[in-house]
Amino acid sequence: MQSLKVLGACQAVLKFQRGIASISSLPETHQMLYKTCRDFAEEELKPIAAKIDREHKFPEEQLKKMSDLGLLGVTMPESLGGTGLDYLAYAIVMEEISRGCASTGVIISVMNSLFLGPIEKFGSKEQKEKYITEFLKNKKLGCFALSEPGNGSDAGAASTVAQLEGSNYIVNGTKCWITNGYEAEGTVLFATTDKAKKHKGISSFIVDKPTQGLSLGKKEDKLGIRGSSTCSLIFEDCPVPVENILGEPGMGFKIAMMTLDSGRIGIAGQALGIAQASLDCAMEYASKRTAFGQPIVKLQAIQQKLADMALKVESSRLLTWRAAYLKDNNKPYTKEAAMAKVSSSEAATFCSHQCIQILGGMGYVSDMPAERYYRDARITEIYEGTSEIQRLVIAGNLIKELNL
Ligand code: CAA
Repeated sequence: MQSLKVLGACQAVLKFQRGIASISSLPETHQMLYKTCRDFAEEELKPIAAKIDREHKFPEEQLKKMSDLGLLGVTMPESLGGTGLDYLAYAIVMEEISRGCASTGVIISVMNSLFLGPIEKFGSKEQKEKYITEFLKNKKLGCFALSEPGNGSDAGAASTVAQLEGSNYIVNGTKCWITNGYEAEGTVLFATTDKAKKHKGISSFIVDKPTQGLSLGKKEDKLGIRGSSTCSLIFEDCPVPVENILGEPGMGFKIAMMTLDSGRIGIAGQALGIAQASLDCAMEYASKRTAFGQPIVKLQAIQQKLADMALKVESSRLLTWRAAYLKDNNKPYTKEAAMAKVSSSEAATFCSHQCIQILGGMGYVSDMPAERYYRDARITEIYEGTSEIQRLVIAGNLIKELNL
C-alpha cells in the first residue's frame, strides 16, 4: 500500500461545487486516499475489530501500519513530517477507518486533531520539532487533557492549577476521560494559571508522559470503543518547564475551543463510519435473509428503515464535508462543525439501532457486528462536546449572526 505522503505532495485544490455528494466527484487525491483507507479497513481492521472490543486490546500493530501510511498526521505539513493533506481528507480518513473499527478511529482522531492540531497552530518552532516531527517519526501517540471530574461540558471551570515557580509551572489536579491516556507519550494539558480571571486564566501546556508527578488512574471499563484506553491523569506537584507553555498564558480556553472545533469534524467522521457500517450490515443481511417467501429487503417495512438510514448518513456526510471545506478555506466553521458532529453522531445512534432492528435476534448477539456498532455509536453523542452542547454552539452562532 502506497504511503499517503505521496498524495500530500500532489494535493489538488478542492473546488467544492454544488452537487458534490459522493467520493467519485472529489479530486483524485481524495479518491485515492478513500481507496487506501477503505482497503486498509477491510484487510486490517474489520477482521480484528470484534476481538479488540472483546479483549479491550489496543490495536498496536495496526497503528504502526497506519503510521507508515501517514494516517497519524494527516493534516500536518510535510515540512514537519506530516502527510500534508487537508481537513476534507482527514474527514474521509476518519470515516473509512471507523467503518472498519471505531476504536481505532478515536485513537487516530485524538492524535491528529486534539494533540498535533493545537501544537501546529500555536506551538513554537522547538515545540513543533519535538512534539510533531519527533512524535510522527517515532510513532508516538498524544492525548488531550481538558475534562475534569467536576467539569466536562463547563470546560471554562477548570480547577487544575499550574503555579509558576522558578523555571517550572507546578501542576496539581486531576483530568479525566482521557482517550489514549495509557499509551500516549505526551499530552496537551489545560490548567488555570490565574483563578481570578476564570476562563481567561486558563493556560495550555505540553506535558511529556511519563513524567515526575504524573500518574494514571484506572483504565475505564466502557460500553463501547473498548479497543481505545480511557483513564484519568493525576498531577501531584508535577513540574512542567516554562518553555512547554503552548501559546501565551491565559490563551488556554481559546486554544481548547478552537481545537475542539476541528476535533468535532473528526468525531463527525468517526460517527459517519459507524453509521455507514450499520447501513452496510443491514443491507447485506436484508438481501440474504428471507421471510414471507422473499428476501426481507423486498418488504416495505424494511425499505422504510433503509431509506431513513441512508438519508441520515448522506445528509450528515454533506454537513461534515462542508465543515471541512470551510476550515480548509479559512472560513468560520464553528457552527458547521457542531452541526456535522450532532447530525453524524445522532445518525450513528439511529442507524445502529435500526440495524439491530432489521437483524432481529442476530443483531443482539456478538456473532454479528451490529451490537458493537450500537455500543460504539453512543459515545459519539458525548465526547468532544455532547449533543446538547453542540446545539448550544449552533444556536449561539445563529443568534450572533443577528448582530443584536
Ligand atoms: N473558537 C474561539 N473562541 C471561542 C470559541 C471557539 N469555538 N468558543 C468560545 N470562544 C471564546 C468566546 O469568544 C469567549 O471569548 P472572550 O472571553 O474573549 O469573550 C470565550 O471563549 C468564552 O466563551 P463562552 O462564554 O461562549 O464560553 P462558555 O463558558 O459559555 O462555554 C461551551 C462554551 C461551548 C459550553 C464550551 O465550554 C464547550 O465547548 N464545552 C464542551 C467541552 C467539550 O467539548 N469537552 C470535550 C472534552 S475533550 C474530549 O472529549 C477528548 C477525548 O478524549 C475524546
